[in-house]
Amino acid sequence: MSSETDDSRQESFRALLRSLRVWDTELPHFDPESAPADPLPLFQRWLREAAEAGAVEPHTMTLATADAAGLPSVRTVMLHDADERGWHFGTHSTSRKGRELAARPEAALGFYWPAVGRQVRMSGPVTEADAAESRADLARRSPGALAAALVGRQSEVLDSYKELERAFEAAWERALREPDAPVDSWRLYVLRPREIEFFQGDAGRRHVRLAYRRTADGTWTTRLLWP
Ligand SMILES: Cc1cc2nc3c(=O)[nH]c(=O)nc-3n(C[C@H](O)[C@H](O)[C@H](O)COP(=O)(O)O)c2cc1C
Repeated sequence: MSSETDDSRQESFRALLRSLRVWDTELPHFDPESAPADPLPLFQRWLREAAEAGAVEPHTMTLATADAAGLPSVRTVMLHDADERGWHFGTHSTSRKGRELAARPEAALGFYWPAVGRQVRMSGPVTEADAAESRADLARRSPGALAAALVGRQSEVLDSYKELERAFEAAWERALREPDAPVDSWRLYVLRPREIEFFQGDAGRRHVRLAYRRTADGTWTTRLLWP
């Protein structure tokens, strides 16, 4: 049975949720007729416009994977590139997502940029880049990112925070001493979208949803979806 304090906390939490608004700002207009035949330049333009509109960390995205039984999991990762091969991100092949991708090399990505009321989502097969490209991906990042990668053991159970601090200290020293220290588990992954959808929010709720689907010959078809 819940106590009065639990009830009032729950009530104030619900009141908070009801008080929050989305898109309390001027939103851009998106005319799907003007969209390019290929979704890549549109994605690059939308990310740039989100950054210019002040979106915080517009290059972070939600990555969804599923385990061998089909059970899904999500987390945030950083976009390292988007080109004709696909959308690139880096992580440990030994992490939960790395193991899930090994068992089931399919994933979905989601971007949400509130500053412009835009969402992009996509899904498709994921491939691992080769060792040289994965190494180059890590080499382009900061010493802090290298230190974090050197710590490794991502997604394993940590016995105490002290243990992490010790491991980090050693990893920092090594990252500064050896800026191209290899991290065998670090992988660059590339998601090649089979479908990709652009959503433009509208204050009057006449949202625009433009869905691209890749055809067998590699070109794209588009259609609008009811919001
Ligand atoms: C803003 C942000 C960016 C992140 N970027 C990455 C990333 O690029 N690669 C990565 O492995 N983890 C990144 N993480 C951590 C992941 O969200 C996640 O905690 C970690 O990768 C372990 O996920 P897993 O246990 O599902 O494999 C990021 C977290 C946040 C909040």
